[in-house]
Amino acid sequence: MTNTPYNPAQEGAQMQFDGRMSYTDYLQLDPILSAQHPRSDAHDEMLFIIQHQTSELWMRLALHELTAARATLQKGDFRPAFKMLSRVARIFEQLNSAWDVLRTMTPSDYTRFRAALGQSSGFQSHQYRLVEFILGNRNPAMLAPHAHRPDLLAQLEQELTRPSLYDVALSHLHQVVPLPDAILTRDAAQPYAPSPEVTRAWAHIYEAYENHWELYELAEKLVDLEDYFRRWRFNHLTTVERVIGLKRGTGGTSGTSYLRRMLDTQLFPELWELRTTL
Ligand code: HEM
Repeated sequence: MTNTPYNPAQEGAQMQFDGRMSYTDYLQLDPILSAQHPRSDAHDEMLFIIQHQTSELWMRLALHELTAARATLQKGDFRPAFKMLSRVARIFEQLNSAWDVLRTMTPSDYTRFRAALGQSSGFQSHQYRLVEFILGNRNPAMLAPHAHRPDLLAQLEQELTRPSLYDVALSHLHQVVPLPDAILTRDAAQPYAPSPEVTRAWAHIYEAYENHWELYELAEKLVDLEDYFRRWRFNHLTTVERVIGLKRGTGGTSGTSYLRRMLDTQLFPELWELRTTL
C-alpha cells in the first residue's frame, strides 16, 4: 500500500465552483457556522451552545414532520403519517444520544460560564413549546415568555387554535367508537383532560385490533413517540441534576423539581391507561 498523493479530479470530482452552487452555499454553512458566540472565555461554553443549537435544528425537523403527519392524518391518510411519526421518534432517539456529549461537562466547567447566560434557558425555546403544543400538551400559561417576540407568540397562539395530533387521532377513534361531545368539541387551547370513555374506546381497538389495524398502529406509533420523548425529558432531568444539583434554573423555575413535574406529564394519557385495564 502506498500513500501516493491522489487527485480525485482524475475520476471526475468537481473541483471548481466559481459561479456554481457548492456544498457550503446549498447548506448555508456560513451563517450556521458563524452563529456561535460564547459570552465567556470558558472552554465548555462552545459545547453548551452547539448542543442547544443542534437540538433546535432537530426540533425544526421534528416540527416539519409533525405538522405534515397531522395534516396527512386529518385527510385520513394513515400510512404516510406513520412514516413521519416513526421519523420523529428516531429524532428524539438522536437527541437522547446527544446528552452523552453534554454530560462530559462537569459542574465546575458549567459554573465557569453559567452567569453569562443571564436569564436565558431552554424553558424559552419556542420550538420545544410548539412540539409540545402539536403533540397535545397545551397550556396557555407557557405563552408568556414569548410576549416580547410577537412573531413567535403568533406561531404559538396559532398552534393553540388547531387540533393537536392527539385530537386528530381521537376524531378517527370516534368513527369507530363514538366519543362524548365534550371531548370532540373541547377548547383546543386548554390542557387535555383524560377521560374513561376514551380509555374504553382505545381498549376496544386493542382488543379487536385485527378489525382496526390502522387505529391500532396509530396508537402504537403515538406511544412509541411519547416513549422517546419521555426519555428525552428524563435524560434532561438527570443531566441537569448532575450539573447543577438542586439549584434554581437560569429561567427562574425550581430547576429539577420543575423538570420532574414535567416528566409526569402524559401526552396521550389513555394510551398508557389502557395498558392497565386491558
Ligand atoms: C447543562 C445543561 C443544561 C442545564 C443545566 C439545563 C437546565 C434547565 C433547567 C433548570 C430548566 C428549567 C427551567 C429553568 O428554570 O431554567 C430547563 C428547561 C429546559 N431546557 Fe435545559 N438544561 C440544560 C441543557 C439543555 C439542552 C441541551 C437543551 C436542548 C435544547 C435544553 C432544553 C430545555 C427545554 C426545552 C426546557 C423546558 C422544559 C419544559 O418546560 O418542560 N436544556 N433546563
